[in-house]
Amino acid sequence: MKKLTLLGGISPDVFLRDYWHKKPLLVRQAIPDFAPLLAPAALFDLASRDDVESRIVSRSGKRWDMQRGPFAAMPAATDGQSDRTLLVQGVNLHDASADALLRQFRFIPDARLDDLMISHATDGGGVGPHVDSYDVFLLQAHGQRRWRIGAQRDLSLVDGLPLKVLRNFTPDEEYVLAPGDMLYLPPQYAHEGVAIGECMTYSIGFRAPAYQELGEAFLQFMSDTIDLPGRYADPDLKPTTHPAQIDAAMLENVGEQLRKIRFTDDDIAIFLGEYLSEPKATVMFDPPARPLTAARFTLSAAKRGVILSLKTQMLYRGRHVFINGESFGVEKADRAVLAALADRRSLEPAALAGLSDDVAEALHLWYCDGWLMLS
Ligand code: SIN
Ligand code: CO
Repeated sequence: MKKLTLLGGISPDVFLRDYWHKKPLLVRQAIPDFAPLLAPAALFDLASRDDVESRIVSRSGKRWDMQRGPFAAMPAATDGQSDRTLLVQGVNLHDASADALLRQFRFIPDARLDDLMISHATDGGGVGPHVDSYDVFLLQAHGQRRWRIGAQRDLSLVDGLPLKVLRNFTPDEEYVLAPGDMLYLPPQYAHEGVAIGECMTYSIGFRAPAYQELGEAFLQFMSDTIDLPGRYADPDLKPTTHPAQIDAAMLENVGEQLRKIRFTDDDIAIFLGEYLSEPKATVMFDPPARPLTAARFTLSAAKRGVILSLKTQMLYRGRHVFINGESFGVEKADRAVLAALADRRSLEPAALAGLSDDVAEALHLWYCDGWLMLS
């Protein structure tokens, strides 16, 4: 595999083998001459929207405060006593250059990639020493930030704070990052970043659902698909002297029926695809104001190609295609074109020649929902 400047001159397979989930990696000039993709004003603008998740963390001495957005206006800049950090989640859903940056990390599957978060801090600002449950690449975008990190076991937290701050932070390494420098941290690795002057940091974050969460969602999914015909019957019922007791025969009968609930690999694939492609609650698509008819859309698509919305999550597995929480079972030929759309996130005109009616219809529907656009 090709060596990447982004990973400090190592290849993705070496990175995944030696660092991913294992140990930090500091990359100086991961993106040489990096310039911020969004000016602070554009970030503040995003933070004022109710379809964008944002937070402000501020600190004054030992006092921490956290507010959730949207924020009509940014609090006044630092007064010398306190500092503040604005954190804006999912910037990639709203900005094509942020999406392109996130997709540089696509040697890791989309099922694991979460989002690009941008933080903007005033001098001295930070969110305190903490650990995250997820892998993260911290790319310095503007100004400088001092990171202190440590592989400590003690993850106990300061009580009573509105955010998770480690009680005993014992860092063993310290780095000052300048624009274009990047620090990879595995999950549960203690870290604290403090702004040196005004600074912006981009977090390329990953998702790793908790098994409990997956299990609960899977049972919910299965409840829509199970099929247990018939109804409880007891033609051999005998008189009882303990009428309040559930009798053994009933228990056995019901157990036998419930044990018929089985799930296949297909059920798991469909569940996982729907679950992982489900848009976050804040996501709102932008459907075209006056959509083209199906026939005109198909003609235009064959001339211009199509591109997925930044907000669309499209995955596939076997003959199943998943888009924004919905699944489709598709024929082999259709699968090839839809898998190409999911992998490349766009299709050029040539790839759209001779579409089946099913795919043409699906693309038009997705276009009407704002899930994809004409290129
Ligand atoms: C930040 O960008 O301020 C915080 C990022 C992190 O520590 O995960
Ligand atoms: Co963190």
